[in-house]
Amino acid sequence: MEIALSPFLPEALLVGFPEIDAQHEEVFTRIESLKAGCFGNTYVDIAEFQALLDSFTLHFATEERIAEDAGIDFAAHAKIHRDTLDLLRKALGDVIKGERDAHAFLRYAEYWFERHIREDDKRFVATLQESRHFRLPRSRRPVSNRLFSARA
Ligand SMILES: [Fe+2]
Repeated sequence: MEIALSPFLPEALLVGFPEIDAQHEEVFTRIESLKAGCFGNTYVDIAEFQALLDSFTLHFATEERIAEDAGIDFAAHAKIHRDTLDLLRKALGDVIKGERDAHAFLRYAEYWFERHIREDDKRFVATLQESRHFRLPRSRRPVSNRLFSARA
């Protein structure tokens, strides 16, 4: 029996859509890696922070594509994505200028993302499940979770 264990995407945050769950885990993994990398360190790897924003951007575009394919009105959710990206880009600019602490940026990004999954993405996937124009892919743990799997 395979037991999926992931330190970065707890069961409570799974939405049941493999592509979305895998992207959620990637974002959390990047945040954790950045937190570990800049703990007790004044050096900020700007390229890695930019890669985190790229992961957010890709993830938001994925959800928007899935919604469009399913014919679901996604305007309000997409606005949340745009507003958040604007805010994160501005906050990262502040980090680069030394006006904002990198850890504070990461804590905010992590808190925001967890709340967004619980409140917005779960509702989105529930709407997908109710849509007669869309068939939800078979649910399974994200591919990256194999790194954390154990056999019992
Ligand atoms: Fe979303």
